[in-house]
Amino acid sequence: MTTFSGKTAIITGGASGIGLAISKELMENGIQVVVADINKEAIDTNTKENELYEGEVVDVTNEEQVETFVNHVADKYGSIDYSFHVAGANKSDLIIDQTLEDWNFTVNLVLNGVFLFTKHVGRKMKEQKHGKMVNVSSLNAHVPMFYGAAYSSAKAAVENLTRNAALELSDYHINVNAILPGLVATPLTKDMTDNEEINRRFMERIPAKRAGEPSEIAKPAVFLVSDDASYINGTSLVIDGGWEVTGYPDMRV
Ligand SMILES: NC(=O)c1ccc[n+]([C@@H]2O[C@H](COP(=O)([O-])OP(=O)(O)OC[C@H]3O[C@@H](n4cnc5c(N)ncnc54)[C@H](O)[C@@H]3O)[C@@H](O)[C@H]2O)c1
Repeated sequence: MTTFSGKTAIITGGASGIGLAISKELMENGIQVVVADINKEAIDTNTKENELYEGEVVDVTNEEQVETFVNHVADKYGSIDYSFHVAGANKSDLIIDQTLEDWNFTVNLVLNGVFLFTKHVGRKMKEQKHGKMVNVSSLNAHVPMFYGAAYSSAKAAVENLTRNAALELSDYHINVNAILPGLVATPLTKDMTDNEEINRRFMERIPAKRAGEPSEIAKPAVFLVSDDASYINGTSLVIDGGWEVTGYPDMRV
């Protein structure tokens, strides 16, 4: 059995959705959670509700802010045992209509945000000679979607960054794995699932016939940092209600 007590975890994007669900799952296991997110209001609400929740306003695309945050967590808590890289968003369009600005926004947030945390947390975990990271990629790393070229490309890169990090950091007893969620009911997907026609097309494709709950992503993510997953490194866990086998719907309405 994993002894989680006394451990400290970083969660980027831990103010909402999947990141918040991972934070709650960790706190239920007695783990000190330190969240990096740009949503101050949501951080403040969560801090008031749980004493194991600490949050700081950090933009994951800003290297100075990331490095300062990671140093602060390591100094205050002595070690960073786990780090979950969850923050993400998407400015979507068809490729032939997409502005370079929106493409860059998405790739910068989705890919560079994970790179910067992997780099700075990786340095600390190398010093302490242990640690586990989980990167949140997406089913879109394997399956393209209409309007989602920037997002799908960046998420595929996150999956390969995960494999590269596992390769480079294994010598220091650091495991790095990715999770690839399908459709999950969070603020990120609300516009799509609230659209009756698009939701119907999703449900035609998803064998489970429903979106996943954030907790259904959080539990497997936390499994990946448990002792039970000690021999799992550099791999991807698709958590999608069986969706990968059927592909994406046509979302052009
Ligand atoms: N919801 C889904 O269906 C789904 C599916 C596959 C992958 N994902 C991925 O899961 C992750 C979490 O998504 P979610 O659905 O929980 O969305 P969400 O919008 O509920 O949460 C995302 C969080 O990231 C934070 N964030 C955004 N930009 C940031 C930045 N620059 N710096 C720091 N924090 C920032 C937001 O403030 C928010 O708290 C994302 O990487 C997303 O791409 C989601």
